[in-house]
Amino acid sequence: MSQPIYLGVNVDHIATVRQARGVSYPCPVHAALAAEMAGADGITMHLREDRRHIQDHDVERFAELAQTKLNFEMAATKEMLAIALRLKPADVCIVPEKREELTTEGGLDVASQKKRLEEYVNQFNDAGIHTSMFIDPDKEQIDACVAIGAPVIELHTGAYAECKSDKERTIELTKISEAAAYAHSAGLVVNAGHGLTRGNVEAIAAIDAVNELNIGHSLMADAMFKGIDCAVRDMKQLMLQARSL
Ligand code: PXP
Repeated sequence: MSQPIYLGVNVDHIATVRQARGVSYPCPVHAALAAEMAGADGITMHLREDRRHIQDHDVERFAELAQTKLNFEMAATKEMLAIALRLKPADVCIVPEKREELTTEGGLDVASQKKRLEEYVNQFNDAGIHTSMFIDPDKEQIDACVAIGAPVIELHTGAYAECKSDKERTIELTKISEAAAYAHSAGLVVNAGHGLTRGNVEAIAAIDAVNELNIGHSLMADAMFKGIDCAVRDMKQLMLQARSL
């Protein structure tokens, strides 16, 4: 019997459109509530250090209004730690962050900073917040997440999404499905995301060890043409079909 698969909707780019003009619309909190009504299982907001899209008041309002769960995406900084401990989201996802990047370009190097990251995981565990580590599909990184007691990982699917040929795609897909199976058998909850679209989501959703997909940019782009409701429903349907649910 297939395991369920969940859709986390990232609404950062609703805020990108708002910030482009410095006005009050469109509102990512409204988008999040609409996505929940369309069947999103959770909402991701990434409060970046440079506040280029999501602002503090967005996460604060959504944390109060969430009907599903907030996944608070953050860099491992003292400032973000304090905000997360105050907001108490259901989940946090720790990502690497560089000011000059367009988006989160690679996975977090957990293996080289185990001691520092373990302090974050311990504080979140004590606060009842699930910590996810956004990592590349790599055994050394998975072992490091287990070693520091992180309960959840999110596998970076960006390299898969950027493949130009079927041959490359098969190689990346194999890496992701092997990493997912390895992490799952080590007791981790395995999520995945980055660069997923209606065109490439099914192969990832079909991986049984994967619990949740976090999707933002392509969903918001679809929403511009058909509305958030339809965009979220269509994506979820594709995921469930791929999982034969
Ligand atoms: N998961 C994580 C950890 C991310 O950083 C992002 C991008 O913000 C996503 C998922 C969603 O990626 P995309 O916007 O390409 O769907």
